[in-house]
Amino acid sequence: MIKPHGSDHLNPLYVSDAAARAALEQEAASLPSVVVSSAAAANAVMLGGGYFNPLTGYMNLADALSVAESMQTADGLFFPVPVLNVVESAEGLSAGSRVALRDPNVDGQPVLAVMTVEAIETASDAQFEQMAAAIFATTDPSHPGVAAFMGVGRVLLSGSIEVLNFSYFASDFPDTFRTAVEIRDEIAERGWQKVVAFQTRNPMHRAHEELCRMAMERLAADGCVVHMLLGKLKQGDIPAAVRDASIRTMVDNYFLANSVMVNGYGFDMLYAGPREAVLHALFRQNMGATHLIVGRDHAGVGDYYGAFDAQTIFTEQVPAGALEIEIFNADHTAFSKKLGRVVMMNEAPDHSAEDFILLSGTKVREMLGNGIAPPPEFSRPEVAQILMDYYQSEAAS
Ligand code: ADX
Repeated sequence: MIKPHGSDHLNPLYVSDAAARAALEQEAASLPSVVVSSAAAANAVMLGGGYFNPLTGYMNLADALSVAESMQTADGLFFPVPVLNVVESAEGLSAGSRVALRDPNVDGQPVLAVMTVEAIETASDAQFEQMAAAIFATTDPSHPGVAAFMGVGRVLLSGSIEVLNFSYFASDFPDTFRTAVEIRDEIAERGWQKVVAFQTRNPMHRAHEELCRMAMERLAADGCVVHMLLGKLKQGDIPAAVRDASIRTMVDNYFLANSVMVNGYGFDMLYAGPREAVLHALFRQNMGATHLIVGRDHAGVGDYYGAFDAQTIFTEQVPAGALEIEIFNADHTAFSKKLGRVVMMNEAPDHSAEDFILLSGTKVREMLGNGIAPPPEFSRPEVAQILMDYYQSEAAS
């Protein structure tokens, strides 16, 4: 099986031993505590599940600057984005102390993890802007990822963590949320060798479905893990529960039984385009996938990235051998009216734009909002129905 990134075995930071966890919870009750940002909480969930292997906690300023600039820590570990715990103030905390990290996304703000604070450093606005420019390729405050990154404070708490739970993800998505450890185990149990991962933050339309099918066929893969983001998205994106239902319906109806696993991970979308694609590849390697599909405008938003920048970063900026997982590059994919099936557009050179059914996300949302189902060439009818129900219930509320 493919090795995790940076070590021979996964080292999830979740404390799985019940007695050790109870002891840690007890200790946490008497520790100083901070309510962390949603991004820091999501980082803890990812670290807890083994997705960010081999990190042992949050990065310090030197590592964050180095990772933003060159995708490696000061010690030379390859990592595509800084993994940070940024707070407004570290009053009452000191280097060397233990602190309970409280969850901003769960009622009562329970303790999510316990951290051993190795350093408390205040970064300048200029350093934050420098990092944002490197990670997001923009410092535009209207970019949702930049806004989240710049808006949480300037104080970096770095150090190792021990994770106590998986926030709201395990309870809200019991059938879908899985750790990297669990997915690795399931892949091993199924005996899959070649495994394609599909990243998504959308209900799966036919282009998404066909991308999975094409990748599986062309790679002669044993299976595909549809791995959806369950954390926070920008305004207007479709809630995880609706996406989950759509994807499951599509997989049940249109894929061979036992060829697809439908799972999700607890992380807020960064919208960092190319850099996020590399992060996606890294954590899919950690969960045991051998290939990641990267199509058009992967993890993008607005017009900040070129349509295929998230593919070229792997050949132009990721050092050879930094990751073991391979990328399945896909061209813009759409239904061809001429051929009566979904194709990659570069594989239909005799077609003009009118030969394809091309609908923007905005157009589809508009149609759904008006109670109009997207055409069956764009969305499977079962998926269209779930989305229509959701948009209609939203309109009624
Ligand atoms: S993402 O932010 O998670 O990347 P989305 O769920 O829409 O957004 O896309 C999931 C994956 O499918 C990404 O790799 C994306 O590039 C790819 N993709 C989505 N739609 C298309 C399309 N029409 N043609 C090619 N690739 C696509």
